[in-house]
Amino acid sequence: MKIRIPATSANLGPGFDSIGLALSRYLTIEVLKPADEWYIEHNLPYVPDDKYNLLIKTALKIKPDLQPHHLKMESDIPLARGLGSSSSVIVAGIELANQLGNLQLSQAEKLQLATEIEGHPDNVAPAIYGNLVVASYVNKRVSAIVSDFPECAFLAFIPKYELRTSDSRGVLPNQLSHKKAVAASAVSNVLVAALLKGDLTTAGQAMESDIFHEPFRQRLVKEFYAIKKIGHEYGAYATYLSGAGPTIMVLAPQDKIDSLQEAISQLGFDGELAPLTVDTVGIYVE
Ligand code: HSE
Repeated sequence: MKIRIPATSANLGPGFDSIGLALSRYLTIEVLKPADEWYIEHNLPYVPDDKYNLLIKTALKIKPDLQPHHLKMESDIPLARGLGSSSSVIVAGIELANQLGNLQLSQAEKLQLATEIEGHPDNVAPAIYGNLVVASYVNKRVSAIVSDFPECAFLAFIPKYELRTSDSRGVLPNQLSHKKAVAASAVSNVLVAALLKGDLTTAGQAMESDIFHEPFRQRLVKEFYAIKKIGHEYGAYATYLSGAGPTIMVLAPQDKIDSLQEAISQLGFDGELAPLTVDTVGIYVE
């Protein structure tokens, strides 16, 4: 059996902790055979290969008496870059427990469990459902709406360096004034309405008008401003910080992508420039 989970890009500007999108990079877990002890084969430095691995810890949290297995994990989702690598592992762990324990969990139950573990639904929800997900987690209850994403191309600049979510959350203020909170949620409301209508021009403006987190985090990602400027010059819809960063996501019409890619690579920043597409599947088991 193989379990495949997509990468995710959270926030999309003002959808902080609430909006996310599944993208075409993947974590794959292969269940090889039953064993006496849990063992997970992978090639990541400093990541445990026994029951202390996050994948296995998550599966055992869901069903503590699961039969140990020999597993293999492969992923092209870079770690600590704002592309949902740890959420993909949490969702894979839940699906592993679901399959090996024959739990028959619904997608909504998986989302509730994954959100309780992760603390917010914006990465785990699209990792489960694919596509665009708008979700809330209030009073321990998750609500989520899944939708197609309007037709467009994505270009991710993935810096060489890592940015821990805890560090990136550490620069956020404890409070916003009522006036600012009203403005911030109004921008987010427009983003959602525009995405659901397929109006990427208006959605892009809302993405670039975030008040919740980007103004505080931009200084942590030194490439952000220059790439956003290129986005404006070359006809992108929007440039935003993917999740907690440091990946910078550019959304653009397909026919602008080649010139954007060329112009951004001319900046000479150290990192990978990756064209991505929306994953419409979410959790996939074969
Ligand atoms: N919404 C989260 C953040 C995503 O921006 O901190 C990363 O966990």
